[in-house]
Amino acid sequence: MTSAKTDIQAAPARASVPGKKGRLLTGDRPTGKLHLGHYVGTLANRVRLQDDYDAFFLVADLHLLTTRLENLGEIRDNIREIVLDYLSVGIDPRRSTIVLQSLVPQTAELQLIFSMLVTVPRLQRVPTLKDVMRDLHIQQPSLGLLAYPVLQAADILIVRGEIVPVGRDQASHLEVTREIARRFNEQFAPVFPEPDTLIGEVGTLPGTDGKAKMSKSLDNAIYLSDDAATVTRKVMSMYTDPTRIHPTDPGHVEGNPVFIYHDAFNPNKVEVEGLKERYRKGTVGDVEVKRKLAAAVNAFLEPIRSRRAKYGAGDVDEIIVEGSKKARVIAQETIGLAREAMRMNYFG
Ligand code: TRP
Repeated sequence: MTSAKTDIQAAPARASVPGKKGRLLTGDRPTGKLHLGHYVGTLANRVRLQDDYDAFFLVADLHLLTTRLENLGEIRDNIREIVLDYLSVGIDPRRSTIVLQSLVPQTAELQLIFSMLVTVPRLQRVPTLKDVMRDLHIQQPSLGLLAYPVLQAADILIVRGEIVPVGRDQASHLEVTREIARRFNEQFAPVFPEPDTLIGEVGTLPGTDGKAKMSKSLDNAIYLSDDAATVTRKVMSMYTDPTRIHPTDPGHVEGNPVFIYHDAFNPNKVEVEGLKERYRKGTVGDVEVKRKLAAAVNAFLEPIRSRRAKYGAGDVDEIIVEGSKKARVIAQETIGLAREAMRMNYFG
């Protein structure tokens, strides 16, 4: 028996916002405030992309449930914090849509449909599942944890997203998303785009302690919301060249986090090159290099701080509620298309 094809065409998202290249969606689990590593890794890119694409930024609170069921009430503060971080770096709620996942219940309906289109062994092979189970000492995954990539597929496809900018670690999830979209379209009718992954080419920022990655759990982060004194204190105690005992010793610039940060955040290239040269020769002390770095990082954060100060708590809540409302309208339309394609629109 052949599958029941219908003549429904995917409503093209491209047409919905004139002048934009298509619909983009990406998201974060609300695990806490964002830091300079997030800025370099994804936020700067998102701010640029919102001009070209009809962009949706999702706070994935339901995904958090896959690994945490305690103190869920506290997540509200994390949600507000992350949205305020988005706004402070320049994600503009008039141009982009900020969405709270749990305020779009159609996502759960789509996940249920999608769960029929992917096998259990396929999901067991997703490499991030093994990583999470190992890191969190989980013996057997819950059905929800196993279905993590299916929920992510529903996040993306409920707005018929076409472009998903993410880190390399998410590539395997996007593969599942594309497979599910293809499967649905073949089985029923072409409702869903097969979204493209946009892997950011930016390097990761090391932590202030010199470890490979800045991260909250390693306690080596400079947060976007840190005040000037905190930033200065963190920079002045940064890990630098361990082989250098005296300011007159020739120092190493390559791989030195202090200089990696100078390259990333100090727009005064002449100053940076001068410091590097003197550092190599042993004619500048770490204190001067760090003082100049603290000034540069604080100057970089200044516009972020002033944008942050413009938003009150009420504004943030309103942006979340309004963005989610806009997403629900699209989500309802998608569910309608999916039901029609499946011939399940029995009673309207
Ligand atoms: N899984 C993503 C992460 O941990 C977060 C996420 C949830 C996401 N839904 C998404 C990312 C949809 C892109 C698109 O980083």
